[in-house]
Amino acid sequence: MKHIIMVASEGNPLCKSGGLADVIFSLSEELTKKGNKVAVILPFYKSIKDTGKLFKFVRTGHTEIEMSRRHQDAEFFRAEYKGLIYYLIGNHYYFDRDMLYGYEDDGERFAFFSLAALHLANSLEEIPDIIHVHDHQSAMIPCLMKEKGGAYPNLTNTKAVLTIHNPAFKGYLNDDALGELFGLPHYLYDEGNVRFDGAVSTLKSGIMYADKITTVSPTHRLELLNPSTSMGLDSVLRLREDDFLGIVNGVDYEEFNPAQDSFLFSPYDQNNFAEGKEKNRARLVAQSELEDDGGPSFGMVSRLTSQKGLDLIIGAVERIASEGHLVFILGSGDPYYENELQRLRDTYPTKFLFHRGYSNQVAHDIYASSDFFLMPSSFEPCGIGQLIALRYGTLPIARATGGLADTIVTDGEKADGFLFSEYSQYAFNETINRAERVYFEEKSMQKMIVSAMKADHSWGKSADEYIALYNQLS
Ligand code: GLC
Repeated sequence: MKHIIMVASEGNPLCKSGGLADVIFSLSEELTKKGNKVAVILPFYKSIKDTGKLFKFVRTGHTEIEMSRRHQDAEFFRAEYKGLIYYLIGNHYYFDRDMLYGYEDDGERFAFFSLAALHLANSLEEIPDIIHVHDHQSAMIPCLMKEKGGAYPNLTNTKAVLTIHNPAFKGYLNDDALGELFGLPHYLYDEGNVRFDGAVSTLKSGIMYADKITTVSPTHRLELLNPSTSMGLDSVLRLREDDFLGIVNGVDYEEFNPAQDSFLFSPYDQNNFAEGKEKNRARLVAQSELEDDGGPSFGMVSRLTSQKGLDLIIGAVERIASEGHLVFILGSGDPYYENELQRLRDTYPTKFLFHRGYSNQVAHDIYASSDFFLMPSSFEPCGIGQLIALRYGTLPIARATGGLADTIVTDGEKADGFLFSEYSQYAFNETINRAERVYFEEKSMQKMIVSAMKADHSWGKSADEYIALYNQLS
């Protein structure tokens, strides 16, 4: 039994912008089911006042954090949910804002959050065995634990784990930030441990100071060690290669279960998927005033960013819709891509459903109603959409990168999806053609759907790998 503290910038069901939030909750829940004690520390964002209504948060105390010669009050709140403990760190100035991120002072906001989280961890009655931090927002914590140990005497034996979910964000800060925000000596910068690209990088600091580092799939681990795909991190990670692991994410099998999904018009399982998918599709088509040609249908649920291969998606939607087949896309993000998709929606109003924004209902409808799930990511540390799609018998058509390469089977008896390597419209369209051919060979298609629905991407095995890692440390 370990006492683990997760420190992250987002976590379900309180605040979410991407897959990180899913992982924080579902991994923590699985670790708890396996007998560990897990607490999640998050910022008390403004939006939590709505999403957290069901939580009974109790104020447990506060402290003053010294930031840039200013004193900022950190308030602590606690609640229990599904066997997990949630702590929120409140500060009106930093977190009472409309969005989670995207502010000029994000570096300072998360420096404050990291310092407050450590203060809280140090003050808990039960000393944590592990502090597990995620991405650049909390990645300075391992360095603070080692370099300012005196400030956190109860954490002397606590070990730090860093998980990299998105290596594109390095957490850059001006070198003055070291002293001003974190109260750390400047020689750490001069010596290089926290320096990256001529700035302080919280992510690099995390890599240098954490006791173990993980990323969210074995293939992405290899990509991060390879100069052509590491986004600059290979030389740093190579220094820590022996302490660096790839553990693939799972997906919450309770939340995503086509046989018991209250969002679905017609829930289904491995025995009646043909009928179930057909009925769900008919309802989505009717509600969205589309015209169904009875051919293959394609879905996507995603943040609309270049990472997710949106440039290729735009070309593919044009092709699929002009052929008369259906495409359903749900998501929001980069305004350029939102506008392009809206333009296509206007061009093909009976073939292309574009729902801008996010809706659980529409997401579940798309997973259940589509035959194929599009995921041509330029990079994808793990990816969650393909795992949900597989569970709903919706065959992924994805780029062979990161976790997509690790979780989709393309050959043999268990084949359950389609992969392409080169990031090009040609390669993506060719793979869509291949999938369409399979669609019309009914037996092969059904076999792949069954394989997809049988594949096990629940958290059990991956949570065991994290537990083994924690056990190595303490
Ligand atoms: C990031 C990655 C995605 C991963 C998620 C959770 O959003 O881009 O691939 O699935 O984190 O680890």
